[in-house]
Amino acid sequence: MTFPSRRPRRLRTTPAMRRLTAELVLAPQQLILPAFVREGLTEPNPITSMPGVVQHTMDSLKAAAAQAVELGLGGIMLFGIPETRDATGSAGVDPAGILNLGIEAVRAEVGDELVIMSDVCLDEFTDHGHCGVLDAAGNVDNDATLEIYGRLAVAQANAGAHLVAPSGMMDGQVAVIRQALDEAGHQEVSILAYAAKYASAFYGPFREAVDSQLTGDRRTYQMDAANRREALIEVELDLAEGADMVMVKPAMSYLDVLADVAAMSPVPVSAYQISGEYAMIEAAAANGWIDRRAAIEESVLSIRRAGADTVLTYWAAEIGQWMKEGK
Ligand code: PBG
Repeated sequence: MTFPSRRPRRLRTTPAMRRLTAELVLAPQQLILPAFVREGLTEPNPITSMPGVVQHTMDSLKAAAAQAVELGLGGIMLFGIPETRDATGSAGVDPAGILNLGIEAVRAEVGDELVIMSDVCLDEFTDHGHCGVLDAAGNVDNDATLEIYGRLAVAQANAGAHLVAPSGMMDGQVAVIRQALDEAGHQEVSILAYAAKYASAFYGPFREAVDSQLTGDRRTYQMDAANRREALIEVELDLAEGADMVMVKPAMSYLDVLADVAAMSPVPVSAYQISGEYAMIEAAAANGWIDRRAAIEESVLSIRRAGADTVLTYWAAEIGQWMKEGK
């Protein structure tokens, strides 16, 4: 008998054999495109730290949504950047606020052909940049924030969102939003909870993307990178409060957390490949240090392999294009 008789390399011999034996494939319907719409723009505005990503005008946002339908993407996650901000983020609840207008425009453009999702948070709308309102001592006031989150979610549902995604990590946010939606007659609107969201340095480029006013950090509400088990209590609470789907964020530095959540979650699990993950790969590729497309595909595949059913990624449209071209 020759040695070795067990040869796993047999299944790697040809592209056809590798294709046949791949445990996972990327499909456009698993990808969600995050998109930014900015008030007062006449031209799309490039985001320097995220080459290839822009702050949209209303028109370019509609075109991006139409392209997402064309490519068969799963959804679009909308963020708004208002012209004026205040202490309580009132532009977020205003039906004429930029995010709500963006949702309305996208819904009019694509109808039900794409799941229209929106970020329920205050950081883009407050003049201090925190995800909640502040108390007299300058701390983020959890319960005062909840009441506003309920109104934000209802405003977004009124504008035409199919799904709202609370990302502020306030305790009780899913329950309050579910109740507010139901009372407003929006029983059919889903909640994707940013359940395990970590305080991450990799959000850096997003702060430019939304012109964040934040000084300091979000460590009193977002999770500590050291903690793995704690993600499970965050997910359990969100499920008990009525989350229809749960998310882990960021993705690549938290694949262990994602695998844990995927193992226990009875609902679909999402992961957000965030701005810094995008920027790192783009920067390395621009320097010729890595193969851009291979690195993008490998990164998204790793997030799926760890257990994400769906992935939010700024490359959603480009990956969708590659898949459409079949190469
Ligand atoms: C909060 C929010 C953030 C992101 C999505 N929703 C920023 C933060 O928590 O600081 C980050 C997304 C990214 O970095 O790509 N509204």
